Amino acid sequence: MSGAYIMAKNVVVITGTPGVGKTVTAKRVSEMTGMRLLELGAIAQACAISGKDADRESLIISPKKLRGRIRNLIEGQEAEFIAEGHYGEIVPAELVKKAVVIRLDPIVLEGRLRARGYPEKKVKENVQAEILDACLIGAVDAFGMESVVEVDSTGLGEEALANVVSDAIRGAAGSPPGTVNWIAKLEKEGKIEKLLQ
Ligand SMILES: Nc1ncnc2c1ncn2[C@@H]1O[C@H](COP(=O)(O)OP(=O)(O)OP(=O)(O)O)[C@@H](O)[C@H]1O
Ligand SMILES: [Mg+2]
Repeated sequence: MSGAYIMAKNVVVITGTPGVGKTVTAKRVSEMTGMRLLELGAIAQACAISGKDADRESLIISPKKLRGRIRNLIEGQEAEFIAEGHYGEIVPAELVKKAVVIRLDPIVLEGRLRARGYPEKKVKENVQAEILDACLIGAVDAFGMESVVEVDSTGLGEEALANVVSDAIRGAAGSPPGTVNWIAKLEKEGKIEKLLQ
């Protein structure tokens, strides 16, 4: 495989905390744009399981295997890809032209995760990760400030969000990392302490 292929940045990553709407949005954007969809969670399940974390009732993913599989799927392809998943930073940085981090008001996220039937511990863990910008920080660490945009999905329906994310991919929407500030918002609403306990 030639170096020219390896240098081609043909992947847009869509990432964010569980429940923010990555899968629904990425599917819509893929249909709108013709970009090929890679569901990182499904790829991990299919070919990168290395064990089971009984404590957290979740599977342990081998990052090395997953990265290798993603490379195989993408490298040398002329298509443009959307890779969506909670662990967006797993996509090799040299393939990534942009990462869109979907954000959601932690209070709304909490309701959505509860409605999904998540145990309270898992709800709290994910709500706190959203408050503390965990996915955003992961994306900036992996891809650099200039490649990452945030999109606040709060109050946007599925179609509206897909439109904004598709605009963000073209550089016509979204905000630089650090724009969303849930801590300030929740402090103002007097809700921060309870959520971070
Ligand atoms: N813009 C939206 N407005 C309201 N609800 C939404 C929106 N986008 C997604 N949802 C709903 O939120 C839930 C989670 O969506 P989705 O499965 O896409 O999240 P996800 O980020 O992919 O989660 P996970 O990381 O667990 O895969 C679904 O029930 C979906 O219908
Ligand atoms: Mg999903």
